[in-house]
Amino acid sequence: MQKNKVFWFTGLSGSGKSTLANALKKELELLGKSAYVVDGDVLRKGLCEDLGFGDEDRSENIRRVAELSKILLELNYYVIVALISPFQNDRSLARTKIGNENFMEVYLNTPLVTCEARDVKQLYKNARMGLISKMTGIDSEYEVPIKPDLIIDTTDRPVQDCVAAIMTKLKCYRTQPTNI
Ligand code: ADX
Repeated sequence: MQKNKVFWFTGLSGSGKSTLANALKKELELLGKSAYVVDGDVLRKGLCEDLGFGDEDRSENIRRVAELSKILLELNYYVIVALISPFQNDRSLARTKIGNENFMEVYLNTPLVTCEARDVKQLYKNARMGLISKMTGIDSEYEVPIKPDLIIDTTDRPVQDCVAAIMTKLKCYRTQPTNI
């Protein structure tokens, strides 16, 4: 039987993390699995409401989510994390904590130009106008993953197509990154 996993979606705001996470959850549930989405936007209203967007707070955010993911994994959930998680070191620590064999890093490399055109929350617009600071991709760094398990650009790709690629990857889990 396929062992459950943590899918760790990383990428800019607007890259498609939450959309894909929720679609993947539905797909796993159709297969009779228990799945839970850990979404940055949701956590920042509760468990992580004390954290801001400085580097240290982002690291603490990722650390907490890694701990939470471990607990959910032990409870036999498929855990789907949707966090910008911009720093390589924090993502590596999460992988180590959760266990390499349990961890699938999905890098959404949807370009900034696409994310900014989507701008669902008007954050990029506000960042460009100087109304908010430390916006990832504008005045806060995003470190490209060194060795993600899967790379997806959601610009022109239907959601179900992306989900199918993740499910394929899950079935033949390899260590080499795959561009789709
Ligand atoms: S992370 O960097 O610590 O991983 P996280 O995923 O929890 O970030 O939260 C990102 C969400 O917070 C974004 O999707 C966006 O809605 C919101 N947000 C508000 N301000 C910022 C900002 N300065 N930079 C990035 N995201 C922001």
